Amino acid sequence: MPEPNNNSRFALEVIEAHLTSTIVGRSKTDANEIWQVLDSTNNRASDLARAGADEGPFVLARQQTAGRGRQGKSWLSKADSGVYISFLLRPELTPASLPLLSFVAGLACAEAVERTCGLQPGLKWVNDLVFDGRKLGGILCEAPGQETKNRQQKSAVIIGIGINLDLTAIDLPAELKDRVAALDQLCGRQIDANLLVASLCSALEKYYLLLRSGKGETIIKLWKERSATLGKTIRATLADKEIYGLAADVAADGALIVRTEENKEIRLHAGEISIRLADGSYA
Ligand code: BTN
Repeated sequence: MPEPNNNSRFALEVIEAHLTSTIVGRSKTDANEIWQVLDSTNNRASDLARAGADEGPFVLARQQTAGRGRQGKSWLSKADSGVYISFLLRPELTPASLPLLSFVAGLACAEAVERTCGLQPGLKWVNDLVFDGRKLGGILCEAPGQETKNRQQKSAVIIGIGINLDLTAIDLPAELKDRVAALDQLCGRQIDANLLVASLCSALEKYYLLLRSGKGETIIKLWKERSATLGKTIRATLADKEIYGLAADVAADGALIVRTEENKEIRLHAGEISIRLADGSYA
């Protein structure tokens, strides 16, 4: 069972009092959860999905002992150092628009941070929230698989989001010290984490509904307006090779269009790809 979260930066009743959404964080049958400690909020949300939970609830933890990032990396998840949250959605989407959920989540994170703190973070293809060249947050979308058979229900997607709240150099391994940013340090005050989460629910729902109504091209357009990647020379690391080129555009399916020095156009799809700026810096 979720434990009471005394002395936490998060209070479910405060978050729920500020919700303006009707789907995200608003399931009529399945409660939102806040835990003191979980291995991973994505794991817990996947368990709920496999047990047949409806669309909408979120799972938040003050701390994760096995927080996961993309490409098998771990996600630093010390107590109260970040928002660690996973949303359970059951999207009525065509397979072609499913990859755009990651863009939906990125837009939602940027908007929630902007509304809560007044900062304007950028988005690094495909799923990082960045500020001033440093990583502020990340998104891990997963499909739980092996769900209980309920013909009425669509397959679930878990949208896991981590946003750094309070991290100083002492919290970080040497290789991350100059690459990571956190909201409290950027704002010079302890930001309101409950408002940030409530805002995240509203923004996620707004962009999710846009995608569901077939407006994938609007999602891409809005994402491009916040892009920290386009127009930059990047180095992409694929399984067997590295590609240098100009990040020229994002295609309708979410692929990053890169123009190489030989003027060849290459489309990079999310998955096992990581990109850096050509000088090795992060965003
Ligand atoms: C990345 O940039 O590599 C994605 C990081 C995603 C981290 C979040 S924290 C909440 C959720 N639970 C997890 O185990 N991972 C995601």
